[in-house]
Amino acid sequence: MNHLYLIGNMGSGKTTVGKRIADSLRLPFYDMDALIEQASGQTIPEIFAREGEARFRELESTLLREIAQKPAGVVATGGGVVLSEANRARMRHSGWLVYLKASPQTLWKRLQRARNRPLLQTSNPREMLEAIVRAREPFYQEADWVIEVDALTPAQAADAAQRAYRPAPDAPMQVAVLPQQPHGYPIYIAPALRTRAARLILHQRPFARWVMLTHPPLLCWAESVLVQLGESGSPAQTITLRSGERMKSLRSAKRLYEQLLQAGLDRSSLLIVLGGGVLGDLGGFVAATYMRGIPYVQIPTTLLAQVDSSVGGKVAVDLPQGKNLVGAFHQPALVLIDPELLRTLPARHWRNGFAEMLKYGVALRKGLWRRLQTMLNQGVLAPRRVRKDPTEWTLPIAQCVNLKAQIVSEDERDLSGKRALLNFGHTVGHALEAALGYRGWLHGEAVAVGMIAEAELGRVLGITPDSVVRELRETVDLAGLPTQLPAGFDAETLLNAMRHDKKRAGDALSVVLLNEVGSAQLEPNIPLSAMQEALRQCGAS
Ligand SMILES: NC(=O)c1ccc[n+]([C@@H]2O[C@H](COP(=O)([O-])OP(=O)(O)OC[C@H]3O[C@@H](n4cnc5c(N)ncnc54)[C@H](O)[C@@H]3O)[C@@H](O)[C@H]2O)c1
Repeated sequence: MNHLYLIGNMGSGKTTVGKRIADSLRLPFYDMDALIEQASGQTIPEIFAREGEARFRELESTLLREIAQKPAGVVATGGGVVLSEANRARMRHSGWLVYLKASPQTLWKRLQRARNRPLLQTSNPREMLEAIVRAREPFYQEADWVIEVDALTPAQAADAAQRAYRPAPDAPMQVAVLPQQPHGYPIYIAPALRTRAARLILHQRPFARWVMLTHPPLLCWAESVLVQLGESGSPAQTITLRSGERMKSLRSAKRLYEQLLQAGLDRSSLLIVLGGGVLGDLGGFVAATYMRGIPYVQIPTTLLAQVDSSVGGKVAVDLPQGKNLVGAFHQPALVLIDPELLRTLPARHWRNGFAEMLKYGVALRKGLWRRLQTMLNQGVLAPRRVRKDPTEWTLPIAQCVNLKAQIVSEDERDLSGKRALLNFGHTVGHALEAALGYRGWLHGEAVAVGMIAEAELGRVLGITPDSVVRELRETVDLAGLPTQLPAGFDAETLLNAMRHDKKRAGDALSVVLLNEVGSAQLEPNIPLSAMQEALRQCGAS
């Protein structure tokens, strides 16, 4: 499960980029077109001319089967390799897919004089090229990572692809949130990133003082960041808080304001929050309101916080009347994601975060969905076990972060309906959490059943195909997440919770529904009878 497969159209630079990465990482380089030519003793145009495209595709699939068994290396694939679903699955099972995306204009500039591209030997090669690019784009988009290469030199493209394949503390993956905006910020992602945290923080800008907010059991992770900050000449103070949703309160916020005052924090200071979603929300809320707002850095330590809550700047505390009722939009100055921090996370919390990852996949991106299914099939996450090896998790985490960053950048304040798509599974999930008094079930577990209920709702309304509902149920089950409501739960209790939520939202019930895997829409005016039926399909009485 270790190759780097470079995919993309002819002329996108797979061979040049692939060679560079293989050299840099001292890995074998497999150039599929060159290997086919070598083995058959013919050039690609000759194979096309004498034996036809279908025969070439057969040779390509056979070679891919062989390469998949070989030691980890960098593979420059042929442009059409992605056309076969079996090829795509084989690549996914034996490595990571990185798409070098070039625009038709760039490709044409590079290819207009090429004679070794049989598909372009037509009367209007430019039109043909554009048609090929259009037809293949959905397949390329199933990649684990997409790199836009138009404005990149080969060295820059190779660096970006290498960072996706082997991210490291001094060469992390980078995702931009709200790029070009004054409050935009980078998210860095790499195993062991904590060992470079201080450098990355100080690179943003100098801060007069800093305070680290964390939980006592996480001090083992915070330590390395604190030591680095100490070495930079200005030691950080540490504030520790107990865990639990109860801590996300105005009472905790007030205590924190007092502690920050005592520590002498002002607007030139920084709050560093190292913890899960509870601490991220609380710390972010305090940062948003203390002295009318100070900068903060998120170092998320749960899977849920890494893929979701640390990105997007929604910060809040709870009131006795409900969750997240007092809050703000306050973007962090920086987010540092180190999947090694998850090594101490209990298995149930891995599953909790995985539910949110499934949501991104099924609602927004088919390639991610297929990747998560592959992880389940390979036993990375099983009902009783999690393999916590960061090399298996970093890229899927980054993909979720990237999806959320894109949506937040388009709809920061949740106004256009785009950000609402992130709420697939959450209308029912939130209602279930509220009806259970926020006890017993974790958020992701409620979202897991919520996704199934909302897929059933889409089916009842004729929007979601049966096959998608079935696939979702099977996948959620394989992850060891609940697919049914708690025994004896009645639909009316959940509908009441939704009505309460609806009153807060002030409009009719809108729910995100699946059109197909990787595509969702916000559907307004959901009839309650349809929701009742969907809940019954999940075991409600
Ligand atoms: N702001 C947003 O956009 C957003 C999105 C989703 C969820 N949330 C919020 O996130 C919160 C839930 O977050 P959560 O699931 O991360 O819960 P959490 O922060 O309570 O963490 C779960 C548990 O794991 C422990 N823990 C954290 N990191 C650990 C590690 N590396 N090793 C061992 N133990 C560790 C914590 O101490 C806690 O006991 C909710 O309050 C929810 O409202 C916010």
